[in-house]
Order: sequence, then C-alpha cells, then structure tokens
Amino acid sequence: MLKLKNIEKAYNELWVLKDLSMEVKKEEIVCIIGPSGCGKSTLLNICSGIIKPTKGIIINNSSNISYVFQEDRLLPWKNVYDNIHIVNEQGSRDECMHLIKMVGLEGFEKHYPIQLSGGMRQRCSIARAFYYNADLLLMDEPLKSLDYSLRINMIKHIINLWENTKKNIMYVTHEIDEALLLGDRIFILSNRPSKILKEIKINIDKNKRSLTDSFLVDIRTQIIDLLD
Ligand SMILES: Nc1ncnc2c1ncn2[C@@H]1O[C@H](COP(=O)(O)OP(=O)(O)OP(=O)(O)O)[C@@H](O)[C@H]1O
Ligand SMILES: [Mg+2]
Repeated sequence: MLKLKNIEKAYNELWVLKDLSMEVKKEEIVCIIGPSGCGKSTLLNICSGIIKPTKGIIINNSSNISYVFQEDRLLPWKNVYDNIHIVNEQGSRDECMHLIKMVGLEGFEKHYPIQLSGGMRQRCSIARAFYYNADLLLMDEPLKSLDYSLRINMIKHIINLWENTKKNIMYVTHEIDEALLLGDRIFILSNRPSKILKEIKINIDKNKRSLTDSFLVDIRTQIIDLLD
C-alpha cells in the first residue's frame, strides 16, 4: 500500500532521516515512536508528498491520503460540522453527525474552533480525517492534548472507526500505550539522524488488548529500554 525504501532526508546540513525503509500494508495500523525532533513529522510529510526526500523511493498505491497534522488545521471561520463536512461535500449529514458523536463533540457542532479547547479541536480533526474518503490516513500525535481517560476512550473510537473503514494508518505518537493498543506493527526510531532501532509486531486483536497483559507489558519495557 505504502512503501518507503532507503529514505534519507536532510534540511541543508541537518541530517534528519537515515536509510529508513518501512511499509504500511493493507488494512494495517503502523505506529511510529521516537524522540522529539527525530523526524517523525518529516517522515509523515514525505509520505504525504508535502516534502521530497533527499534520497530514496516512495511507492504509494493509495488513491487518496488523509492527514491529521500535529497542530489542528481547522478553518477558523467554519463551525465544527462545516469543518468536517467540507472535506467530503457529497457525504451524508448522518455520517458527519455520527463521527461528531463518536469523538464526543455532540452539542458542539455549531461551535467555531476558537470556542473549543485544544483537545476538542484535535478530536474535530480526527473526525474530519475519517470523513474524508481516503484509504491512507497519516496521524501525527492526534491525541496529544487529551487527558488519560479521554485518550483511552478515543483509542477505542479510533479502533471502531478503523474496523468500519479498514483504512491503512501511519500513526505517530510519543505515548507508548497508544502504540501498544493501536499498532499492528510499531517502529521505534533513534535520535537524529534517525534510523529504525526496532520493529515490533503485535498479533493480538485490537479489541482484546489490555495494557496489563504480560505480552504488552514486556513490549512496553523493551520500548522504554530502547528510548533510554
Ligand atoms: N522545514 C524545515 N526546515 C529545516 N529544518 C526542519 C524543517 N522541518 C523540520 N526541521 C528539523 O528537522 C528535525 C526533525 O523535525 P520533525 O518536526 O520532523 O521532528 P519530530 O520527530 O516530529 O519532533 P516532535 O516529536 O517534537 O514533533 C528538527 O531538528 C527540526 O528542527
Ligand atoms: Mg512532530
């Protein structure tokens, strides 16, 4: 679906990505974890085509890409409903309202971005990304402004949305728990210039995962050791 081969990226003298190869397969959620500034957003920007790699090849068979940016990019002059509906104007009102409800913004559909908290704006961006008719979804720390319980709740919704749509997702996060609950595979990146330290596969049904499960606790420890 999306394949990166030997990707390297430098901004002038600053080498950010070093010989990175990875793949997002059909109906798969791939999570990327790495230290701040290691090049995760750069990687998503390369996948989306916003920026070009310095070296390497990208093979992208997706017809459309949806992108939840690290900062929400809502239109300030449109309300919640219109911010979502605008990306798929042929889409149904019911589906748009269903997504608004799923991300917990029911009752706020007529609010403008300035009237929302950071977390609410972020949730609006997530609903918008799922409303857009794309088969590849790039998500850059989409839950970063949410408290723990809301984050766990949103993860359940993302799993539901993924099950209904089976979009291929590349999901960047700093939170190991998000990757453990969502990822079919997790890539751990090193400090800049960033390379893949480890690829971890999780073969457990996303609806049956528990963070206290010994297998996930083990993986969690491995990731913490690698990031240390
Ligand atoms: N357009 C740009 N021009 C020059 N340098 C850039 C540009 N974009 C990013 N960088 C640099 O590249 C490095 C990686 O940035 P990037 O935003 O990809 O990191 P990140 O892993 O997403 O960090 P964070 O976890 O803090 O979001 C940083 O050192 C940053 O200063
Ligand atoms: Mg980033």
